Amino acid sequence: MKQSVDFQDFIDEVIEKNDIVDLISRYVTLKRVGNRFQALCPLHNDKKTPSFSVSPDKQLFHCFGCGAGGTAINFIMAKENLDFMEAVKLLAERAGVPVPDYRSAAERNRAAEIHDKKKRMYEMNAEAARFFFNNLIDKKNTKALDYLRARKLSNATIKSFGLGYAPDNWSTLIDYMKEKGYSEEELCEVGLAVKRDNGTYFDKFRDRVMFPIIDLRGNVIAFGGRILTDKENAPKYLNSPETLIYKKKDNLYAMNIAKNTKKGQFMIMEGYMDVISLHQGGFDNAVASLGTAFTPQQAEVLKRYADKVILCYDADEAGQKATDRAGEILREADVKVKVLTITDGKDPDDYIKTKGPEMFQLLIDNAESFVEYKIGKIEKQYNLDDTVEKIEFVEQIAKIFANIKNDVEREVYIKKIARKTDVSPDSINVRIKERMQKNQRNEKARFQRQEKKQFEERTGGRHDLERMRLYNAEKLLLNLICEKEVFKEVRDKLSPQSFEDGIHRKLAEIIFDVMSKGARLSPAAVLAQFDESEVGAVSEILSDDKNVDNKLEAVKMPLKTVLDYNEKKNNEILAKDGDAEKLQEIMERLKKDKK
Ligand code: CTP
Ligand code: MN
Repeated sequence: MKQSVDFQDFIDEVIEKNDIVDLISRYVTLKRVGNRFQALCPLHNDKKTPSFSVSPDKQLFHCFGCGAGGTAINFIMAKENLDFMEAVKLLAERAGVPVPDYRSAAERNRAAEIHDKKKRMYEMNAEAARFFFNNLIDKKNTKALDYLRARKLSNATIKSFGLGYAPDNWSTLIDYMKEKGYSEEELCEVGLAVKRDNGTYFDKFRDRVMFPIIDLRGNVIAFGGRILTDKENAPKYLNSPETLIYKKKDNLYAMNIAKNTKKGQFMIMEGYMDVISLHQGGFDNAVASLGTAFTPQQAEVLKRYADKVILCYDADEAGQKATDRAGEILREADVKVKVLTITDGKDPDDYIKTKGPEMFQLLIDNAESFVEYKIGKIEKQYNLDDTVEKIEFVEQIAKIFANIKNDVEREVYIKKIARKTDVSPDSINVRIKERMQKNQRNEKARFQRQEKKQFEERTGGRHDLERMRLYNAEKLLLNLICEKEVFKEVRDKLSPQSFEDGIHRKLAEIIFDVMSKGARLSPAAVLAQFDESEVGAVSEILSDDKNVDNKLEAVKMPLKTVLDYNEKKNNEILAKDGDAEKLQEIMERLKKDKK
């Protein structure tokens, strides 16, 4: 990335004012070890080995496990899944540093264009929602309203969800919107019209009850439409396509209302009608994941408002699969998950209508935890009166329990299973511990594979022992020469050319340049000169965790390794060049040495 000087000053200030130890402490508990801090890596699923290291002096972090590393900015990028400028802005705001607008005129124009376009799309959708609503309450055609009444929805509910009706016609919406100044192409872009092969357009939603999908800021971003009269080949629900303003994976139906709930937890259902009925019944915390599988992004949205979720998917096989997946995603996001099951083939909408809100509340009160739900599912597969099956059952249970992070929670469940199976808690615990160890071994093996891969990438696929030694020597050497007195000691013996081509040489060039001017070496400024994919490796090199007491002493070994290698390399080049005389001389010398 090419950056102007004042831009780098701004970045430096942001890094300076966001102490990396303070920042990372908000995500994970840091433990001081000597002049640095250690932790379980918050960037990958680090269960036992604290492979994550933070250096307060260098203001850098890095992880041996996943290879991530860098400044506070790189940490926020990785942890919050932001791009560079987003992370910088967040940290600038956090520290009260004003953010200058460094974008070029072209970039600014482009951003303004997109902003205007989005605004117009929101306006189009809002206009269409009004049109659909007016059609719904139109006295001349009460078909849709009758339908919603039959489904027991009140006027207030219809209004607060902005429901509507799309008439049974190919162009009523298009005609209406054209009058309001919107073009057919625009309607197509926002997903309300569809283009035919011959270039003409038609309304996407026809003869459907319309459900506007509204984002957290109150913008109508899409629609779902339910068919009124069953037709062959017409799907029951039709949804807006993904557009500039509608990304399915980021949104939840009714979250614009549910985010204000005082219940401290959310309920996730399958359908629009389930959510609406539940709200009407007083459960203002119901949302739906928009006809697709639940996503980690949706988990993050929910987490901003509450850390508890009840899954209320249908009890059929598809619903159970959805429950399993959503449960894992939520557990991974550290959200507490419960599962509510409605047995007699009903969905929440049917249930609350036939049995009433009090009965639904009873279901909520009796909802089992996600772990209990999984236990129950496994239990059905085994006959616990049969010894062999009982053993297999405990094995399956141990697999699940090995993933429970909280010790107390795990113990509670162990006791339950012990009672159920008449197997002692200790024995069950042994199985779980074994599972955990196996998981850890797998995790460790994965790291090792990854480390090897990284090493091979950095060294061009050569992974013999000598190379490995050289590679590590270069790393340590690069770290140590950042110290003034060490640099003074080695500068005449060594040059950037002494390092292997690639990251190491590039880093050496930067260090030599800065140090020979007698300037201060800023890790952040150094990292700014590397690609994002290289930042982890460079941070690892620059970090303060080499456990070296006397640096002048410590530099001797790696220096020798690097110098020896260079000499050998030079000799090989000479040999290859076919300088027979030189080659002969070397051979002689080698022979002599051997004696
Ligand atoms: N869905 C969809 N497209 C379909 C069918 C379903 O997007 N062709 C989504 C909708 O969000 C729907 C949810 O999946 O609300 C659940 O579908 P289903 O159980 O079939 O519908 P219900 O919500 O029960 O709808 P209704 O009660 O109106 O029949
Ligand atoms: Mn239904």
